[in-house]
Amino acid sequence: MRITAPVHVRNCDLRTRRRLLRMLAAGAIGAALPVRLGAAQRAAAPGTMDYCTTPPLFDQRLHVPGREGLQGFLRTSSDAIALDAVTRSSVPGLAIAARVAGREYIDPTLVVQRGAALKIALRNSLSEPTILHWHGLAIDTANDGNGETLAPPGKTFDYAFTMRNRAGLYWYHPHPHGATAGQAYRGMFGLLVVEDDEELALRKALELVPAETEIPLVLHDRRSGAPDRYAPSPGDLMHGWYGDEALVNFTVRPYLDVARTRYRFRILNASNARIFRLGLRTGRGDPLTFSLIGTDGGLLEAPRTVNELFLAPAERVDLLVDFSTIDVGGFALLESRAFDPMHGELMPATQGASIDAAPHEHEHAHHHATDGESPPSSASDGAPFSMLQFNVRRRGGIALPPMPTRLSAPAAVADSAGDERPLRLGFAKGRWRINDRVYDMQATPIVVARDAIETWLIRNYHTSMPHAMHLHGFQFRVLERETSPDQLAPLVVDARGRLATDLGWKDTVLVWPGESVRILIDFRHPFPGDQIYLVHCHNLEHEDGGMMLRVKVG
Ligand code: C2O
Ligand code: CU
Ligand code: CU
Repeated sequence: MRITAPVHVRNCDLRTRRRLLRMLAAGAIGAALPVRLGAAQRAAAPGTMDYCTTPPLFDQRLHVPGREGLQGFLRTSSDAIALDAVTRSSVPGLAIAARVAGREYIDPTLVVQRGAALKIALRNSLSEPTILHWHGLAIDTANDGNGETLAPPGKTFDYAFTMRNRAGLYWYHPHPHGATAGQAYRGMFGLLVVEDDEELALRKALELVPAETEIPLVLHDRRSGAPDRYAPSPGDLMHGWYGDEALVNFTVRPYLDVARTRYRFRILNASNARIFRLGLRTGRGDPLTFSLIGTDGGLLEAPRTVNELFLAPAERVDLLVDFSTIDVGGFALLESRAFDPMHGELMPATQGASIDAAPHEHEHAHHHATDGESPPSSASDGAPFSMLQFNVRRRGGIALPPMPTRLSAPAAVADSAGDERPLRLGFAKGRWRINDRVYDMQATPIVVARDAIETWLIRNYHTSMPHAMHLHGFQFRVLERETSPDQLAPLVVDARGRLATDLGWKDTVLVWPGESVRILIDFRHPFPGDQIYLVHCHNLEHEDGGMMLRVKVG
């Protein structure tokens, strides 16, 4: 099953040293960190300067979504809206375009009130079939966009549904089976913000100002050489399509000027395959803790102070970051810290161990560029890098509004009546599988009785890799994690092995090799008749490869 032999690359190569000398000459050391995912990165604190660095590069102003344009906020009420799937000559090369009341949008951020009745017409102006899936929404099969019905080129698909979800950050992305990964990678996705009273109360209490102190951050990676080209090798299909540069809101090497106050960042990992181990660090090299206030399905009951968290493809987190501890003129970095990617299906244990031993000195890259300045075409999962620099430019207000101790009313979690349903994740006969099966549009291996509340036990084999398991149509609770890898230990917050990011409502959960995750799903829904949903890995190469099953819910 070994397809690509991982290559260990020493980052302190001559090329890097030459760059370092240039940086020293330019007096640029310590100002920022490199952004290339392939480059090893460590604290840039004076005195602990790591010689394995590339030049400081956060020179592009972060794109902050506004009233129109890229990711612009598009409020949808009862009016029907038309979305157009289009090809563009610039990045994103595929996008959702909209024109409403004289304003033009690219990949609009849809803003919807809970309870609103939506009518959305998706026009396919691509030369291939597509469909949009509303990730995280509690809707019926006809509106789910699960890929079993497509909009052919030139045709329109009409959605009509009521927003039943609580406030939260959801998203939409393409879902034509077998072509999802390529279309998503090329940029045809956007955010969907649901609002309700709890959400409005929070904004008021924290005095948040949208587009100023409340900013969505869409993270994804891409291959810098040909950002709009998706051409996975057999190795990429096996473990996922990884890029060599990180984008935040489609901006490379981004910086954001901030005030010494509290900010809310609502973050989506829109990568095809890359997992982030997100943390913040000050310009002095100290970790900066932050508050986790929400996850996939909206606000937690109460804020949690965290130092870092894992964010797998399709997962969302809602964070509050307080920059008031940083002096004007200082900075902080949003980074993804080194971790063991645990691609056990590809990597002999000895090589895994060497990554463990010195994560900052080595990376395993699947393609190693040795030709001068050209970057590797991808950097492995787990490679450390910085993504976004916050430059503290202004004083804040006089005092921060106090942090609410209660964010949302605890929704009672029902008990499961029946047996546990097992889902085993593994690889066999050249494909990633769930319960030894791959996706078949004709087969329904999981049948859930009407009004059932079930527990699922998702078990991942030891010789596997992490899989970000997503269920359509329902938010679930994570009950327990067992036999988790050691690298999760610092993040565990309770006796059931859960992480802070497991505490809210979830639609996607990362399951590490050797780990078992128990989830609780309330399958009650108001729709007449049987509904078909999907459960799949959100590593989009795995999904397109068939690591997906149909779920019939009575
Ligand atoms: Cu976000 Cu079936 O996917
Ligand atoms: Cu790998
Ligand atoms: Cu997977």
